[in-house]
Amino acid sequence: MNRTRIVAGNWKMNKSYEEGRDLAKAIAENLQPSETVVVLAPPFIHLRGVAAIAEGVSNLHVAAQNCHQETSGAYTGEISAPMVRSTGAEYVILGHSERRQYFGEDGPLLAKKVKAALAAGLKPIFCCGEPLEIREAGTHVALVVEQLEASVFDLSPEDFAKVVIAYEPVWAIGTGRTASPEQAQDMHKEIRDAIAKKYGRDLAQQTSILYGGSCKASNAPELFSQPDVDGGLIGGASLDAKEFMAIIGSFPA
Ligand code: PGA
Repeated sequence: MNRTRIVAGNWKMNKSYEEGRDLAKAIAENLQPSETVVVLAPPFIHLRGVAAIAEGVSNLHVAAQNCHQETSGAYTGEISAPMVRSTGAEYVILGHSERRQYFGEDGPLLAKKVKAALAAGLKPIFCCGEPLEIREAGTHVALVVEQLEASVFDLSPEDFAKVVIAYEPVWAIGTGRTASPEQAQDMHKEIRDAIAKKYGRDLAQQTSILYGGSCKASNAPELFSQPDVDGGLIGGASLDAKEFMAIIGSFPA
């Protein structure tokens, strides 16, 4: 399978500017050249500094954690996709459950953000995933497919080909409770099948689908060895260079 393997670190609202540079440097200095794409997603104010550190490292890339849906204008405190791109960042995380939950971001808004990101030349890392009560009710597949339909399934095939999907069950984020490798594989397969139905087998086979939610060095090898898990979106465990490097090295040979 020649899908791109990706490990992305979502720093969330952590690290001072100096601490962020130190973390990025520790990763840049120790990263071995490989086909695994490593993405660092620091807070906005770190983007340029981290992008400068990543510049000389071929497989190290930078992402924002969000962007606004408009390109510019009177939106005090907001950051647009072209502004993100101008820092050297190449990706943007969109639809993270914390954005959905705390900032009221919904499917139609995220559809606009995805389009704004693509128009600016950014690759969206689009997050989907169900809360605990939906998992317990057994309707998680339907919900995740709905999330995809609401925000990314109206893209042209050319644009969809630039999207990375991150499946992050909300009950696993920051809780220490990871989805089992079987739960992750089942859902990733469902997502890939939904993409195949919409865009055809070839594009579905090329789409990188990352797992997120309490993924760490101790459980990454099992998760990353599942056939439809193409890497991870890592929160807490991406804040420590050693732990994050170990996760990057967790793919099967
Ligand atoms: P976590 O977060 O690894 O700390 O659970 C993952 C995420 O929210 O992307």
